[in-house]
Formats: sequence, C-alpha cells, structure tokens
Amino acid sequence: MNRRERFLEEMGLGPVWRLRRRDAGGPRAEAAEATEAPQTTEAPEAVEPAAPEPAHRVQAGATRSRGAGVQARAAALETDPRAAAIARMDWEELKASAAACSACGLCKGRTQAVFGVGDEAAPWMVVGEAPGAEEDARGEPFVGQAGRLLDAMLAAIGLARGRGVYIGNVIKCRPPGNRNPEPQEVARCAPYLARQIELVRPRVILALGRFAAQALLSSDATIASLRGRVLRYRGIPTIVSYHPAYLLRNLPDKSKAWEDLCLARRTLAEAAQGSGPAAD
Ligand code: URA
Repeated sequence: MNRRERFLEEMGLGPVWRLRRRDAGGPRAEAAEATEAPQTTEAPEAVEPAAPEPAHRVQAGATRSRGAGVQARAAALETDPRAAAIARMDWEELKASAAACSACGLCKGRTQAVFGVGDEAAPWMVVGEAPGAEEDARGEPFVGQAGRLLDAMLAAIGLARGRGVYIGNVIKCRPPGNRNPEPQEVARCAPYLARQIELVRPRVILALGRFAAQALLSSDATIASLRGRVLRYRGIPTIVSYHPAYLLRNLPDKSKAWEDLCLARRTLAEAAQGSGPAAD
C-alpha cells in the first residue's frame, strides 16, 4: 500500500472506494467514461488558475465572470416568465413547483420529482446529474450505490447529508432507462437548480460529472479539462470532479477525486479566513 492509499484508508475511504459491482452506474456512468478521455476542448473563459493557487489569486477573474453571468441571467429572466417566476420562489414554493412540474417530457415517466436534500443553508453544495431508479423511488438524490460512495467521500471531509452540505441534481426527474438528459430537459430544469443555489448560498459548489459541470459553467469542456481548478458559478467557487458512478468503474481516478475534494475544502477554508473571495 503506497502513501496515498494509506492516507485514503485512514480517512475511511478504502473499503468503500473499492466497490466494484458491475451495475454500479448504469448507462449514464458508461457515458461519463467517454467524457473522461484526454481533453481536446478549451475550458470556458470563466475558468480560474490551477489548484495550488491561493484563493485570493482567483478574485479578479471571479469578478469579471460574475458580472457577465449576472447580465446574461437578467436578460434570460426578462424573456422567460417561467424562469422569472421560479427565481422569486421561496423553498416551499420551489419544492411544490418542482413536484408538479410538467415543463418537459420527463414528468411522464417519473414516480416523483427528486428535489434535493440536506442543510438548506449549507456552506457546501454538491450538484449531480439526474435521479436514477432508486432516487426516483425514494425521492432523494444519490441514494444508490453511487450515493453511498458520495456519502463516504463527504464523510472523509467531515460532512454528511443534512450536516454542512446540500445535495441536488441538474435534472429533477429520472430520465427513462438512465439515458443522458437532453439539452432541452436541462434547459427547462435549470431555473430550479439556479434558485436552489441562490437560496442555499453555498460558499463552495462541487459539480460531479460532465452534466453538472457543463450545466453550471455553460461549457462543453471535458471533466478532465475543468477539474483541478477553482472555477466560478455566479461568483461562487466551483470545483469540478468525477461523478461517483464513474469512479466506481474507474478506480485509478478516485485519487484525483480525493484531490478535488481537498481543493474544495481548501478553497472554502481560505474564503472563511478572508484570504479568498466569499460567495455572493
Ligand atoms: N446520479 C446523480 O447524478 N444523481 C443522483 O441523484 C443519483 C445518481
């Protein structure tokens, strides 16, 4: 066992991070695998310097991207009354609206909308892709095998569902057969995630997998090109990492996911100390 493995073992990650069941991720995890190939796409303009940079080094870029993001959002809200209405909702209204949503075809196949779970004023927000079968049945994000890995990862940095973290998805309703969400489905669901983030006001966002990263950062860049840096979603430090379902099938990348978690934790700590930018 090398030093890194010993460290992960000591952090309680070892036994869970070795899960190897073949049915772990379903078709979407297979799709994610394809996205982890070496990157050819440039990262978006909003990207910030690499991980070792202290948080204060990313402030100037953050201000630039926040300004552009606010303008784009204001323009979008003006032309989309549904999004504008969602952007004014409180938690109860938002949950009720998502539960009754029929803005795209996914409502036809769902058991229920899977809204989000956790501390509604948490410093951490984890954003995944979409509910799978177990989440659809239970009405809670990340309750399947990938969710168990996520729980272990969060536990390793002292977080748990309902303690210090809010967990949500880009898409609230299960795509049939675990297929990838369509761009139109992502677009129709986007106002819910945007409002959830506004209400939680996290100080750091962990975007898990290609769909979460691309939706939050309005980018088509690969995970490999986006991870390892402090990026921004509307001014909030955002760290991109691998989706847990992907990690269950790609064991060597678990150490990179651990590095991403450590970067997120460091970013939050620096922001709390005032050496880095606070969230909006
Ligand atoms: N994968 C996700 O991205 N979200 C879930 O809630 C479950 C699996």
